[in-house]
Amino acid sequence: MKKIIIINGPNLNLLGVREKNIYGSQDFLSFFEELKQRYLAVDLSYFQSNHEGEIIDKLHEIGFSYDGVVLNAGAYTHTSVAIGDAIAGITTPVVEVHISNVHKREAFRHHSYLAPNCVGVICGFGLNSYKLGIDSFL
Ligand code: DQA
Repeated sequence: MKKIIIINGPNLNLLGVREKNIYGSQDFLSFFEELKQRYLAVDLSYFQSNHEGEIIDKLHEIGFSYDGVVLNAGAYTHTSVAIGDAIAGITTPVVEVHISNVHKREAFRHHSYLAPNCVGVICGFGLNSYKLGIDSFL
């Protein structure tokens, strides 16, 4: 059974509450329940943190034994050399995902410090971006 983890970064605990016009009205925990039902043949886990170092610690913890990481690092995508380096330092492949199409938004969201170290990037498909991220590992 493949082991895949979804890691969400800052402010993604507020999904369903925060800027619904951009991020939709579903909270992530109810979406994660749907994902577990959809991918019964996958050992799927979930971690969220608003803290850069905790995201790095989690990448180190799982990064040599899992089959894939679906990572939405939120705004750290555009700021964090350290998360980019953590992805480069582990062997588990990482797919960068975003709910919104960051390229349609402010210029500061167009750059990613993570993407050069990821296998690919998926953005703009709402919560379906996570499904596409998981599918990429299957
Ligand atoms: C986001 C896009 C980021 O620019 C933003 O900071 C987020 C969410 C997305 O999923 O669309 O927090 O990663």
